[in-house]
Amino acid sequence: MAIPVPEKRIKEFENMGLGMFIHFGMYSQLGCGEWIMNIAGMSVEQYSPLKDTFTAKDFDAKKIVEIAKAAGMKYITITTKHHDGFCLYDSKDLNGGYDTVHSACGRDLIREFVDACNEGGILPVFYHATLDWYQKSFEEDFPTFLKYLNDSVELLCTQYGKIGGLWFDGNWSRAASDWDEDTLYATIRKHQPDALIINNTGLDARGCAGHPEIDSVTFEQGRPTPMNREGMPKYLAAEMCQTMNDHWGYGKADFNYKSLPELIETLCACRKVGANFLLNVGPDGDGNIIPMQEVMLRGLGDWVKTCGGTSIYTGKPSEIKGEFKNFALEDEEKAYLYIHDLAILGNAHVTVEGGGVGFKHFTNVKRKVKSVKWGDNGQELDFVQHGDHLWVNASGFPYGCQYVVRIADVEFED
Ligand code: GLC
Repeated sequence: MAIPVPEKRIKEFENMGLGMFIHFGMYSQLGCGEWIMNIAGMSVEQYSPLKDTFTAKDFDAKKIVEIAKAAGMKYITITTKHHDGFCLYDSKDLNGGYDTVHSACGRDLIREFVDACNEGGILPVFYHATLDWYQKSFEEDFPTFLKYLNDSVELLCTQYGKIGGLWFDGNWSRAASDWDEDTLYATIRKHQPDALIINNTGLDARGCAGHPEIDSVTFEQGRPTPMNREGMPKYLAAEMCQTMNDHWGYGKADFNYKSLPELIETLCACRKVGANFLLNVGPDGDGNIIPMQEVMLRGLGDWVKTCGGTSIYTGKPSEIKGEFKNFALEDEEKAYLYIHDLAILGNAHVTVEGGGVGFKHFTNVKRKVKSVKWGDNGQELDFVQHGDHLWVNASGFPYGCQYVVRIADVEFED
């Protein structure tokens, strides 16, 4: 069965590969994650005074964009409103002034965000919670809530110029049929025909396709699985969002950070199956990306620049198979072998054994190989090809380097 051809916006999104997720809101001041209102059982009366101290004084959209670019990211998905119901944008008269413009902050943070993204060449995407703990209508009069949701989305689609997309979260809190997705998505398509529409299917339904207007499936946390797009009515992208520690919103006492090698391998594992990697940061209550997270992002970006090249963005899943964690991507011209667990070369007194240097076996290589070279330094590698089997003699890392995953570019005879 045929695989549908992706629409332009979906193809472009897929080629972005890596994005930044930002969870920022009043909850960031408490440093206990974005669900604290619910988990601590706070009423709206107890929680809402946080707006009087939420100045976001260090929220610097330009700096965030600079860090995202340094991390090799091409888009940023930011919380315009989380489940607490507080808006980071000018909600006009829709939300009784429960937003950054009409409280201590006095600024439209989403305006600043979109402007900085546009200036920096980053695609701005709006996370928008559908589950809402602030609007009474959510529990008491759902049709009124749906109107509020639709009007809010219309505002977001009309007051910031062209936007990259809407990323909804919370539909998992009610039956799918409650949501009137037809109306909501028609509002988006009317004002922003090129915007992506994504709806987080949550932890229990990773990778599930939903409404026909949805442009990408989501995999929350973990590792994405390959998509079988044969016979799908529409080509869907895939995206895996992940926390850097264990909370989306700032967790000041959450020390359970992933390591940089883990982030590099996760990025590679996402691209192996053609999924984007949406890596989360949770700025602190004033809006700073905390040093720990900034360092990780810059480290990931250094790897992308040194090793990832362009294949990390435009390389597609390949039929070529590797052993263990090794795999291949390909584009029209070349294949790219993603080789894991190599060792540093040098004097045994100073280098630590890292695993296997030597021949790496790939199968299902249908074209005749002309050359294999490391993408990072252009060094030619010996190889042997028999039928569709390819063995590449992978040298270790030059002393001074430990790339975690090293990529070899394969050229074919035409
Ligand atoms: C879950 C959480 C939510 C978070 C989202 C990010 O849905 O409920 O707080 O924003 O995941 O993907």
